[in-house]
Amino acid sequence: MAAPERRPAASPFARVEAGTALIDLADIPDPGAKSVIIGEGLARADVVICRHDGELRAYHNACPHGGTPLETFDGRFLDAENPQVLVCSTHGARFRAADGYCLKGPCQGLALRPIPVRIEGGKVIAA
Ligand code: FES
Repeated sequence: MAAPERRPAASPFARVEAGTALIDLADIPDPGAKSVIIGEGLARADVVICRHDGELRAYHNACPHGGTPLETFDGRFLDAENPQVLVCSTHGARFRAADGYCLKGPCQGLALRPIPVRIEGGKVIAA
């Protein structure tokens, strides 16, 4: 069986413009996390949106250690035993979902790049 194909890392130049619709709120379980791709080429942004107890947070889906997307398998971002923690599957860094701070791993003390979001009309929107 072939290994799953990883997504390419997002461009370090990627920005998410305020007002960009990211995902329908109903598409994110609670607790849960989903990623979306916004834009193309150098403007391509990979965004992970996490939800826990009704709280939403969004981050650029790029580990501060190696720049890779956090997940190996689509949609698998959260620690199985603690859904308030995001895991980078490349080298195992663990990030607090509430603020993106790296609690443990090779980038301990660094953080995921946050994207402010709001909910409008049932959609998660970059604020
Ligand atoms: S790339 Fe994420 S821990 Fe190394």
